[in-house]
Amino acid sequence: SEPIAWSYPHVVAHRCGGVLAPENTLAGLDQAVRHQVAMVEFDAKLSSDDVPFLLHDDDVDRTSDGHGPAARLSYAALSKLDAGRWFDASYAGERMPTLESVARRCIALGLQANVEIKPCPGRDAETGTRVARAVQAYWADAPVQPLLSSFSETALAAARDAAPELPRGMLFGALPDDWAQCVWRLRCVSVHLDHTDLDAARVAALREAGYRTLVYTVNDLERARTLVAWGVDAICTDRIDRINALTLSV
Ligand code: G3P
Ligand code: MG
Repeated sequence: SEPIAWSYPHVVAHRCGGVLAPENTLAGLDQAVRHQVAMVEFDAKLSSDDVPFLLHDDDVDRTSDGHGPAARLSYAALSKLDAGRWFDASYAGERMPTLESVARRCIALGLQANVEIKPCPGRDAETGTRVARAVQAYWADAPVQPLLSSFSETALAAARDAAPELPRGMLFGALPDDWAQCVWRLRCVSVHLDHTDLDAARVAALREAGYRTLVYTVNDLERARTLVAWGVDAICTDRIDRINALTLSV
C-alpha cells in the first residue's frame, strides 16, 4: 500500500509544550499555540483500567505528587494527582489528561499531533491496539490524522493491525542496521531519530528509501537549521520559544 502524503509542519513541540509548561499536559498545548507551533508530540499509555492518558515515565513520581508505577493506578486515581506543581506553583492543579481530552483540545486549537505510544512495561500490544483505536475514534472528523510512533515494535505492529490507515513512524535512538526491514514490516511513513546520531548522508539514505524523518530533541536553532538543510522533515523541540515557524523559515 502507498504511504499517505505527509502533511505535517517542520516544528513539533516535545511533550506538548516543551520546557514552557509541565510536560504532557493541556497547559502545554496552549504554549504551542502561543509560540505558533502547529504540531505537538506527547506520550500515551494505559491506566490500570485501560484509559489512554498522557505520561512519559513508567512511574508517576517525577511529574506528579503521586508515587509508584502508573500501571497500578486507575484513571480515577491518576486524575487526582497534581501534574503541574512539580514544574511551577503557577501550574498547580494541572492533571495527567486523558487522550480524549487532549484530542478535543488539539482539534479545537487546530494543532496536529504525534501520538507516541509509550506502553507501561509488558503492555506493549494492548497499548498499541487501544491507543490506535482511540485515535481513530477521537480524530475521526479531523482534517489531518495524527502520526503514531513508538520505540516499541510490538506496540506499533498492534497499532498497524488495529488502524492500518493511520500514519506511523518508528522511533529509534541510534539507527540500527536492520532499520529498513523494521520500518517496512510496520509500513511506516517516517523514521524518528535522536538527532545527535545523525549526519547528512544518513538523512539522504532515509529520503532515498522513501521515508520522512523526524528528529528529537533539538533545542539549538542553528542545529535545527542544519538538520532541515540536510532534508529532515520535522524537528521535535523543547524550546518552541527559540525554534518555531518564525525562526525556522523553510
Ligand atoms: O517522540 C520523540 C521523543 O519524544 C522520544 O523520546 O523519551 O521524550 O519520549 P521521549
Ligand atoms: Mg515522547
